[in-house]
Amino acid sequence: MTDEIMKELEDLFSRNLSAVEKFMEFLKPKIESAQDEHQRLYWHHIYEEEEQRLDRLKDLLSRVRHFLNSSDNAMQDNISFIHLLQDVSLEKFGLHNFEEHLTLAIFDAKNSEHESFLKNMLEMAESDYSKIKELLSALNETFDGKINKAGSTPTDEKENAEDHVKLHKFFANKHITKKLTVGSLKNL
Ligand SMILES: [Fe+2]
Repeated sequence: MTDEIMKELEDLFSRNLSAVEKFMEFLKPKIESAQDEHQRLYWHHIYEEEEQRLDRLKDLLSRVRHFLNSSDNAMQDNISFIHLLQDVSLEKFGLHNFEEHLTLAIFDAKNSEHESFLKNMLEMAESDYSKIKELLSALNETFDGKINKAGSTPTDEKENAEDHVKLHKFFANKHITKKLTVGSLKNL
């Protein structure tokens, strides 16, 4: 089952890697043609965080592929494998940020020719965010909860964060996360 999950993660990360590259190409002219420093910082901030995410995705992809190609049967006791899964749990937050960045860009692109491109990308990000949560919850069951790392939970999903600072969209979704079973994995 761990192998199947790693293959799902490989697909998810490579899909996101090319999406982030496209999103960054969209952002470049936004920074260049910004009318004032506020606008310039706004687009630059998003660009910079997505570029950092691109670097993380490249690193994660090569590590996921390494484990998929190795014949290491003692994965469960392998500390570098656990570290990889903890980094995957942090990257869940990267997907959450991607959703928010796309949503911000969509506000700006209303009725423009970019709107549908951005909305399609947001749809992909939303479905991959729930997918990575399912994969991580399955991994956490396999590895006795060792996978969750501090810093992997967005404000919207923190039990102890004040509700008025949470976005409704994410807050409302938190109770409907599906639980992953061996059977449901086939349908992912
Ligand atoms: Fe941001």
